[in-house]
Amino acid sequence: MLVTGNEILQEAHKNGYAVGAFNINNMEIIQAIIAAAEETKSPVILQASQGGIKYAGIEYIAALGKVAAENASVPVALHLDHGTDFEEVIKCIRHGFSSVMVDASKFPLEENIAKTKLIVDIAHSVGVSVEAELGKIGGTEDHIVVTEREATFTDPDEAVRFVEETGVDSLAIAVGTAHGVYKGEPKLDFDRIKTIKEKLNIPLVLHGSSGVPEESIKNAVYLGINKVNIDTDIRAAFAQGVKDFLKENPDNIDPRKILGPARLRMQEIIMDKMHIFGSAGRA
Ligand code: 13P
Repeated sequence: MLVTGNEILQEAHKNGYAVGAFNINNMEIIQAIIAAAEETKSPVILQASQGGIKYAGIEYIAALGKVAAENASVPVALHLDHGTDFEEVIKCIRHGFSSVMVDASKFPLEENIAKTKLIVDIAHSVGVSVEAELGKIGGTEDHIVVTEREATFTDPDEAVRFVEETGVDSLAIAVGTAHGVYKGEPKLDFDRIKTIKEKLNIPLVLHGSSGVPEESIKNAVYLGINKVNIDTDIRAAFAQGVKDFLKENPDNIDPRKILGPARLRMQEIIMDKMHIFGSAGRA
């Protein structure tokens, strides 16, 4: 069933676990995520970035996401990841997304607050949940590139003001993760997560979670993370599945045969994540 981001994340926040938010670009990825969620009895968030929407088309991605959610036996939210463009955010709301992220994190605090509040007022008036970002998460996620030097951790006191003034439902915090493939092992600022959670008491979001060691993710969830974003690990499983199949069957030209094993490979890693995040068995 299609539910709002808030319905899923408030449950996670109250009960101390996290829900995976997995990036979607095509039908096979969506099917892999839903199959994993049903198999593990886990609530789940399907999230499309502006790049994913550009690739698939808003009508296609919204229709696929809604069909998947409405037919699923578990709660599913359809979420916009990193909405940096006002019109794109509104378009997603109009196409039935149940949750949106407004990412104005590159702007100074006052401007981030103003841009976020505008979206919160509009989205809440039609029952759509809103995530925002404070601090700057490093790495590359589609059109957003934040170098190591530009990345800045979330300030806990600013976060209090930000949430009070915007009325946002959940907050993505910068605590040492980065989007994309890590060069070394990421070092998370666990004290910062703890402090922010104590001050805010709302669902917190960890971006750039592919490649973060299992123990670090578990600790972050224990300290207050309730939404864990995964993109790169799914891409890697998809590509490996396709490569392995074509290596063994170089003459096969059937898209179903080529993509089927990749879909299974993605489902397996997504199921693992759901157990790690603690969402398995919560639906
Ligand atoms: P990864 O690509 O590192 O998994 O990050 C995904 C993400 O945070 C999407 O917003």
